[in-house]
Amino acid sequence: ADPGPLQDFCVGVTDPSLGVFVNGFFCKNPKDVTPNDFLYKGFNTVGDTNNPLGAKVVQVNSTTFPALNTLGVAMGRVDYAPGGVNPPHLHPRASEMLAVIEGTLYAGFVSSNLQSGVNRLYAKVLNKGDIFVFPQGLIHFQLNIGSTPAVANVAFGSQTPGLITVANAVFGSMPPISDDVLTKGFQVDEKVTEALRSQFWSDG
Ligand code: GLV
Ligand code: MN
Repeated sequence: ADPGPLQDFCVGVTDPSLGVFVNGFFCKNPKDVTPNDFLYKGFNTVGDTNNPLGAKVVQVNSTTFPALNTLGVAMGRVDYAPGGVNPPHLHPRASEMLAVIEGTLYAGFVSSNLQSGVNRLYAKVLNKGDIFVFPQGLIHFQLNIGSTPAVANVAFGSQTPGLITVANAVFGSMPPISDDVLTKGFQVDEKVTEALRSQFWSDG
């Protein structure tokens, strides 16, 4: 079978003078590779949660850690202020395991609606030491329901899991999705889509 895609897209070029790309990155000459290439430092750095969501995600993927190219794995660290949320999002190319290192999270994912006709929510309260898994491509979230900061470490089955945050993608795309699509698609008044879009577009 073909390998899974490593990028969102790879538009083919037949004329090499236009530039060449591979599904991933070119490789450094092996004789120039040193142990340092396989070392990533700073995973213990506490993320700055002073933002509207009260959470900070750092993904260690093949862009931020080039040693991962072709290896099929990535990690991440999430810091949550009390009440902080990692909002509904999905990873197009990877399942994810989440381990709670500190604190208490309410976390879950929603199934596709094709098998049973309903989008079923699978959610749990997670304590320190618990691991939860989010299947590839499904919308998931975490909320810090404790009164202290929380920390999670996550593992992905792709060198570039990708990240699609639902609200940003739907209401903050560039250029914006047309009002007709959003009002009809969400079955709401234009005022509602305008209010949502204004969260991402200051000119409304
Ligand atoms: C958590 O779901 C993450 O993607 O970091
Ligand atoms: Mn995730």
